[in-house]
Amino acid sequence: MSTLYSPNCSSSLYYSRLATSSSSASGYQSRITGCSLPKRYHKNNFSLQSQKYQRCNFVRMQEGEVDVTASLTGNDTPVTKFKDELLKIKSSEECKDAADFDFKEESTVSITVVGASGDLARKKIFPALFALYYEDCLPKHFTVFGYARSKMTDAELRNMVSMTLTCRIDKRENCSEKMDQFLKRCFYHSGQYDSEENFAVLDKKLKEHEGGRVSNRLYYLSIPPNIFIDAVRCASSSASSTNGWTRVIVEKPFGRDSDSSAALTRGLKQYLEEDQIFRIDHYLGKELVENLSVLRFSNLIFEPLWSRQYIKNVQLIFSEDFGTEGRGGYFDHYGIVRDIMQNHLLQILALFAMETPVSLDAEDIRNEKVKVLRSMKPLQLENMVTGQYKSHAKGGTSYPAYTDDKTVPNGSLTPTFAAAALFIDNARWDGVPFLLKAGKALHTKRAEIRVQFRHVPGNLYNKSFGTDLDQATNELVIRVQPDEAIYLKINNKVPGLGMRLDNSHLNLHYAARYSKEIPDAYERLLLDAIEGERRLFIRSDELDAAWELFTPVLKELEEKKIIPEYYPYGSRGPVGAHYLAARYNVRWGDIA
Ligand code: BG6
Repeated sequence: MSTLYSPNCSSSLYYSRLATSSSSASGYQSRITGCSLPKRYHKNNFSLQSQKYQRCNFVRMQEGEVDVTASLTGNDTPVTKFKDELLKIKSSEECKDAADFDFKEESTVSITVVGASGDLARKKIFPALFALYYEDCLPKHFTVFGYARSKMTDAELRNMVSMTLTCRIDKRENCSEKMDQFLKRCFYHSGQYDSEENFAVLDKKLKEHEGGRVSNRLYYLSIPPNIFIDAVRCASSSASSTNGWTRVIVEKPFGRDSDSSAALTRGLKQYLEEDQIFRIDHYLGKELVENLSVLRFSNLIFEPLWSRQYIKNVQLIFSEDFGTEGRGGYFDHYGIVRDIMQNHLLQILALFAMETPVSLDAEDIRNEKVKVLRSMKPLQLENMVTGQYKSHAKGGTSYPAYTDDKTVPNGSLTPTFAAAALFIDNARWDGVPFLLKAGKALHTKRAEIRVQFRHVPGNLYNKSFGTDLDQATNELVIRVQPDEAIYLKINNKVPGLGMRLDNSHLNLHYAARYSKEIPDAYERLLLDAIEGERRLFIRSDELDAAWELFTPVLKELEEKKIIPEYYPYGSRGPVGAHYLAARYNVRWGDIA
């Protein structure tokens, strides 16, 4: 069984351009091979290295050695540059000299986590960075800086980080040794988010660690969105790289509606180019979401079925078995539609429904996703159901209502549950309901994509299914989490002399099939940002289209003060969600 994923990030693999010396006007013909995947996805041993001063990149290949050069500017990725520029083919002598110079030695990446003492930084970002370090995926020279307002020493930061470095690496060999090495690369700088002076001191410290190498800088803004622009202004004016790239990762919420999102984008673009902004939606970094395109585009049996002709409905379901628990202050300002549906579920929908992109290049994929979003019918209030959890006692334990959260205003109408029926107005999906459902404090924690297929026309075995033909349709389930799996429900004959059918699963259960544990979404996304791979980040036009779809209905919900349907903590959610599905002749697959 071959694998496209390099088992070890340290093998320096990258994009290659294959050149042949056969006929063409210029004497060379070239074609890009595998140029659209991050370097760690390539199996053969070829590498691209860059060095800012000489501005030269080399591609080495194990077989049929080819060397090429291209110049990169600050924020170019090898992919964009390779596409834009015709590469010059160097003579093998020239390449040999240059290739002997290990350019990697000359560059460094400084990763600054702005808002280092916050929850996200402690629970997700530092552990992900450590996991990348453990797996040898970070560049040889890197430094991690924590930046926040609170006063802290480097030792205190390391202590804080080490307390929460609980991740999938925990039980692995040499974990504590590796952790010590990692922590030695972590430093702290205390400063205000809107102070250019404070960022200038950070810049000085970063330079000391960069030691004169080409410096690449990645900022992770793990701070509330109302201070994004200040932080970006200060980082860009006082602490951006002068000889390498500077990139900024921003985490949702990207505004509350079309206007505030557009204002945020405008604000960021005062200081950054679009290709420096990495808008994270961590669901795009989840293994099974990443696999969606592989499943669809590299298996003949799925793509031909991927349309209104065979698919009856698609369900995107997110549920959590806990409430807001202390996050009510944040949550109440946004609600479940902005927290989950408008981003995580809609992003999955766009990936699921897009046309085949020209290539796996980030822009080609994002072009297709944005077309889906822009083809969607405006969402009407009647196609939406909202709910809010109320207190519930079960087995001697009592569970709080949403409004019992001290950080939630009394009488809040903010939905903690929502279901919506969306439609894509294009030839492939005309009339197919895409049912989205997201909720907190439900009976289970799960995220899945369910594809329900149509009935088999004139099915010879119809009488074996009785009157409920829905029981007999095929269903493809992609369980994103937990316990990742892809299974297909099929009708099968129960073994024996009689003719009895049942519904069985062809099951690709990840834990049984793969021994390798699944990386956290933040690992994949951080690594992509370091490598300049934008495929899994949201472009501003995607964001605009996503807001355009949800803003009117959110406004209506709020202006009309629509009262959410109350559901008990730990239940399956409001019954209204079933009526909504039933209107389109659909049954929620997770309830069946
Ligand atoms: C975040 C939401 O984006 O995703 C949270 O703000 C939610 O409310 C979280 O709990 C769920 O992420 P995951 O990866 O735990 O499913």
